[in-house]
Amino acid sequence: MTISGNGPIGIFDSGVGGLTVASAVKQILPAETIIYFGDTAHLPYGDTSPEAILHYSKKITDFLLGHNCRVILAACNTVSATVWEELEEYIGNRAIAVNVIDPLVNRVVKSLKGSSAGVIGTKNTINSGAYHNKIKMVLPGLRVSSLATPLLVPMIEEGFVYDDISNAIIRAYLSDTRLKGIDTLILGCTHYPVIKNQIRKFYEFRVDVVDSAMTVAEELRDILGAGRGQKTSDEMADRFFVSDHTEYFGKIAGIFFEKQIRLEKYDPWKQVM
Ligand code: DGL
Repeated sequence: MTISGNGPIGIFDSGVGGLTVASAVKQILPAETIIYFGDTAHLPYGDTSPEAILHYSKKITDFLLGHNCRVILAACNTVSATVWEELEEYIGNRAIAVNVIDPLVNRVVKSLKGSSAGVIGTKNTINSGAYHNKIKMVLPGLRVSSLATPLLVPMIEEGFVYDDISNAIIRAYLSDTRLKGIDTLILGCTHYPVIKNQIRKFYEFRVDVVDSAMTVAEELRDILGAGRGQKTSDEMADRFFVSDHTEYFGKIAGIFFEKQIRLEKYDPWKQVM
């Protein structure tokens, strides 16, 4: 597909979790401009119907296309697992469409350690079977166990990331017998990179814990052909929009992006006067 122009990279998620992917994109492709949209008014998507998720995702896509984005990156596993085909079709040839699941599955099947993998994510992501089915198509003999870990998103959004509460919840989930004996754990939610170290520590660093942030950013670099003379975004400032804004979102956004950022409130569902 050829997308003309030097428009920015549009990235969206249900909330601030996708900022982990945005941060990795900025590290790998510093010359690119990003426009981020966090649908904080409708968070969490992990428990929302696919019809509603598609409706929100299309509106956000329109918003990002309105900012001339040449890439639409769904930095949300739930969107990537439940409505990706419809959304990709909707985007059509208007932008390069990228999800977070395919790059991670490719990375896992290429550099798999051991014979048993686990996946954790939101209820929607796990119930869709997206990771399980895509991995099994390439490696039918691999044991893939999946576990929905719905408390992790609100826990992280509430700022419990490095304390006794987060450690107790992480321990309770990861001790589930379905994850027993795994060699690789896929973090199937863009919120989870912020608790990756605690998860690795739980396994005493014996399990390969993989997340989408860097993997997706590297895939995007390959798609855009960075470093091989391609054009990058026109020079303009990165912008970060949220559909609902509280002081609190502003505070935690810095944890996810690993740098303080200014959130701008924009609600595309409201009539613009
Ligand atoms: N960040 C989203 C994901 O990767 C999950 C958050 C939510 O449930 O809205 O699935």
